[in-house]
Amino acid sequence: MTTNLQSIKPDRPNIITTKVDGISFYRKMDTESVVRQMIAGKSVIVEEYYSNGLQVLAELKKNLSEKYKDKSFQGQRAYRTAFREASHRLFIKVIDNKLAVKKAPDIGWLKLLYPEVSEFYITYPEVQGLNSSWQWHEKGLEIKTLNLSIHPYYGTYFPTRFDHLKLFDKWLKKYDGPKDNAIDIGVGSGILTYQLIQNGFENIYATDTNKNAIIGVYQESRKLDFQKKITLNHCDLFGDFDRKVDVIVFNPPWLLAKHNLEEGIDKAMYYEEDLFARFFEEAKKYLKEDGKLVLIFSNLAQEVDNQSTHPIIEELQKNNRFRKDLHLRREVRASSRRTQRTDSRETEKVELWVLAHKNVKS
Ligand SMILES: C[S@@+](CC[C@H](N)C(=O)[O-])C[C@H]1O[C@@H](n2cnc3c(N)ncnc32)[C@H](O)[C@@H]1O
Repeated sequence: MTTNLQSIKPDRPNIITTKVDGISFYRKMDTESVVRQMIAGKSVIVEEYYSNGLQVLAELKKNLSEKYKDKSFQGQRAYRTAFREASHRLFIKVIDNKLAVKKAPDIGWLKLLYPEVSEFYITYPEVQGLNSSWQWHEKGLEIKTLNLSIHPYYGTYFPTRFDHLKLFDKWLKKYDGPKDNAIDIGVGSGILTYQLIQNGFENIYATDTNKNAIIGVYQESRKLDFQKKITLNHCDLFGDFDRKVDVIVFNPPWLLAKHNLEEGIDKAMYYEEDLFARFFEEAKKYLKEDGKLVLIFSNLAQEVDNQSTHPIIEELQKNNRFRKDLHLRREVRASSRRTQRTDSRETEKVELWVLAHKNVKS
């Protein structure tokens, strides 16, 4: 497994290593008054119990809900922005990789991501994110299609619905072409790469722009003893790969970004305007003559905004590079009680597109 892993450090939440000048919050204090000061710009430090932070956040929610009564999309966005801003003034102290309050969860990321710092402050919402991520990492996420559990690394995309994996599995089971090598663009927590390996592919070249995804798959693939078959690279799209392959698979972000994208997990959900044009241009060069280009997509963007374009259909219509070999669709269903959907995207469908070079017989 060759990789540029040695040179990459995981992305992690920002920390403050100097003293935070703020109100120390104890549960018997007047929460309403503390929250008012927090909204006005004052920092607050959670003391005594971990749950004191939850008390402050609950009060903040109450306070801001009264101020932002507008239930429209815009109104709720303003509420979320205000909540985000104020809640990031709530800090908690970490000493020797542990939260310095009672009844706090044990979060392994504090040690793994900050091995070199013994005392620091971090925002409470970031700690909540680290805690939830640690629980997924520890317990693992059972992927029935793979017959194994994955343990997603902090800040890495992992699926909570599995319909697209079933579609990919269905295609893999029918695929009878060569299996010497494949490329997995945007490896995330490694699922499609593991599916390729379990279905007999010999060498997978996997990339991601998210450092944490690369580190996570590196570690997990060693545990699964897949490391000999995977070459990882932290890079944009195909990086400097120098061979043509039998199969290229890409489960890209599904929504066009209307904001400036941040590095990391933001790019799992949203794509920049030129992503697909760049991807198809490169894919043309890396796909063997009889190779298959497999894309996983969804009608989610159209569901949210019926004016939005579909980048794969657009590619097929506008450019003379690829032709459609297969198009499968499947309704999205919640797969387990744990990941039950709470939204109302009832007509959402996942799609599997298989493209081949134009002017080549199937
Ligand atoms: C929807 S997730 C899919 C992850 C994984 N393949 C799966 O199916 O569960 C998309 C992934 O593509 C990565 N990504 C987005 N833009 C990329 C780019 N230009 N080059 C490489 N990876 C990219 C994201 O960081 C993210 O991990």
